[in-house]
Amino acid sequence: MKIVLFGATGMIGTRIAAEALSRGHEVTAVSRSGRVPEAATGATGVAGDAADAQAVAELAAGHDAVVSAVSPPRDGSNPLEPFTALYEALLKGVRAAGVERLAVVGGAGSLLVAEDTKLVHTPGFPEVYKNEALTHDAVLTSLRTVDDLDWVYVSPAAEIAPGERTGTFRLGGDWLLSDADGNSRISAEDYAVAFVDELEQGATSKARITVAY
Ligand SMILES: NC(=O)c1ccc[n+]([C@@H]2O[C@H](COP(=O)([O-])OP(=O)(O)OC[C@H]3O[C@@H](n4cnc5c(N)ncnc54)[C@H](OP(=O)(O)O)[C@@H]3O)[C@@H](O)[C@H]2O)c1
Repeated sequence: MKIVLFGATGMIGTRIAAEALSRGHEVTAVSRSGRVPEAATGATGVAGDAADAQAVAELAAGHDAVVSAVSPPRDGSNPLEPFTALYEALLKGVRAAGVERLAVVGGAGSLLVAEDTKLVHTPGFPEVYKNEALTHDAVLTSLRTVDDLDWVYVSPAAEIAPGERTGTFRLGGDWLLSDADGNSRISAEDYAVAFVDELEQGATSKARITVAY
């Protein structure tokens, strides 16, 4: 499978690239720097901006799937406007490239903890992640209106960090998954396993899934 991965140098993107490469897929690793992280040796590094629809169209052409693991600006400004604009451009580019499959690394804040309550709206939600979570929620809401692409939005658990690749995890839908101790967590390596499984199997279309222990 030929995968073009925007955000390939990031904490999560690097692990998706490494997992896909280990299964024999071809990876075009895009970031604004164009760097190929050591763990993704074998990928083709390209510099590109996911917020530039024309660049996305050119970079995505000829691939079987587009992955977005880009992060919103984290300079303290509200990322809502630039990140939703980035996703509009990305979608435009993906359509122009004629690629149908789009897999998005999403956020956990939009996951449900009660019928009418998202994690981001719970009292203990860390203030520092709030704008990023609300921004991801807006991206997902907008993605849910897209019916001409075969998209999937993959929310990590509430906590995701570099760790171990165990290959053992649970998959869910719109609800936050927590373990027996009440912790919602996943290693970035296991998240990548679930993500690449989804790319290979195409089990989910036009919906959100989540991955947690
Ligand atoms: N529990 C949660 O909800 C949770 C936790 C962690 C992360 N996340 C989400 O997961 C995603 C990935 O997070 P991360 O921590 O892996 O991010 P990260 O380490 O900051 O990496 C972001 C990647 O995106 C690239 N990038 C940023 N803007 C870009 C642009 N305009 N065009 C092309 N590439 C761009 C960066 O490279 P350049 O800067 O070189 O372009 C980098 O490769 C984010 O959307 C984040 O919000 C969710």
